[in-house]
Amino acid sequence: MTQSRRVLVVGGGGREHALAWKLSRDGAEVLVAPGNAGTAAIAENLPVAVDDIPALVALARDRRVDLTVVGPEAPLVAGIVDAFEAAGLRIFGPTARAAQLEGSKLFCKKILHRGDVPTAMFREFRSAAAAHKYLESREDTPVVVKADGLAAGKGVFVCADREAALAAVATLADDPQFATAAGGILVEERLDGVEVSVMAITDGRTIVTLPPLQDHKAAYDGDQGPNTGGMGAYCPTPFVDAALLADIEARILVPTVHAMRRAKVPFHGVLFAGLMLTSQGPKVLEFNARFGDPECEALLVRLESSLLDLVDATADRRLETVPPPTWRPGASVTVVMAAEGYPAAAPKGRPIRGLDAAAAVEGVHVFHAATRLADGIPVTDGGRVLAVTAVDDSLARAKLRAYTAVKEIRWPGGWCRKDIADKGIRREREILASEPDADAGVPRPLAETGDPA
Ligand code: AMP
Ligand code: GLY
Repeated sequence: MTQSRRVLVVGGGGREHALAWKLSRDGAEVLVAPGNAGTAAIAENLPVAVDDIPALVALARDRRVDLTVVGPEAPLVAGIVDAFEAAGLRIFGPTARAAQLEGSKLFCKKILHRGDVPTAMFREFRSAAAAHKYLESREDTPVVVKADGLAAGKGVFVCADREAALAAVATLADDPQFATAAGGILVEERLDGVEVSVMAITDGRTIVTLPPLQDHKAAYDGDQGPNTGGMGAYCPTPFVDAALLADIEARILVPTVHAMRRAKVPFHGVLFAGLMLTSQGPKVLEFNARFGDPECEALLVRLESSLLDLVDATADRRLETVPPPTWRPGASVTVVMAAEGYPAAAPKGRPIRGLDAAAAVEGVHVFHAATRLADGIPVTDGGRVLAVTAVDDSLARAKLRAYTAVKEIRWPGGWCRKDIADKGIRREREILASEPDADAGVPRPLAETGDPA
């Protein structure tokens, strides 16, 4: 059995800070490329970019790295796992072909079809003109227009009607970024319901399903404003109970892993399903081939058993030998603190104050997402700056702790959503209220019970 001692984490965001933090707690000596001001405090940062695959291979060799864990999707889609494995280096993540599950929405749809996995109905078009013609000819219902290739969350347009859908197709046709991407355009039926994230670790045969989370993709409170990479997350989400999670595993995750193997594209790494809980049951919105960010931060603070054992075993394709992971009871909440203007381009280099006071709040971990050290002081270095994460015995209490820490932190223009986890907290209250005898023994005024006065 391999127990990696020296682990390289590839990436520089909040997800990678959380991975480096957990792997070092599990006993690994951690290197991060390129890392951020947060990882610098717990690991060794190395100035190699995530897309410089030859330099990463050389780094892993020179530094005698036992295992590499890849955070972001771009190097996976570009073939980092293939390059490492060809060089005889152990690595956690899917091959370039398997990462097409995230990198190509069309490939994803084909796999879902093969596995008979529930997802939105769709049509594929090779040109904007063909998509335009189709939209004009069909009934005017809500649709989602998507560019086929990786577009960092920007190639998706949720459209209320035909007019909006035609405008989205025109935007894709005009934008060189999408015109040069894989080329295809998908038009999908719009699904309605609650959106949740379910991740699993798999070695291609065995699958370990992780607790369900909910992300907050819209920029502003009340799910208003532009789509972002995620403004906060919480774990577990009460929208997915144990029975639904078992159903998602059986009808979505397992058939997808099998369909990938049957297609001769075995998937190993993190299988991350973005799901819509519709009135007809859970349906796949998308798959990602990596941990979510900020989902990873909210997840890992609750993982009591070893992450290192899971990623080690996945790299060796012996995940069945690892006991099921154990989770801290209660809940976790991650609040993303963003720079002025995010998700548009944000100013960089602003000194961040109050990090120590925030980290001193009980149950709180301040993961850095886009920071760097300038003369020894952490400064902002991008849009999503920090992922302030708290654990406690309930969602409401974890939320309180996270925002208590957030209040300690400041830099000019820094902001966050104020309502992270509120949907989950409301849902918990509904569940409690609907349980028979949930409030038995609580005296109520007669008028409210409907008893004759
Ligand atoms: P994707 O990158 O495909 O996950 O899309 C980004 C976001 O667009 C998702 O997180 C959803 O909020 C939304 N979305 C994508 N596809 C659909 C759909 N078929 N129906 C409703 N919303 C969707
Ligand atoms: N938080 C969503 C993602 O990582 O894609």
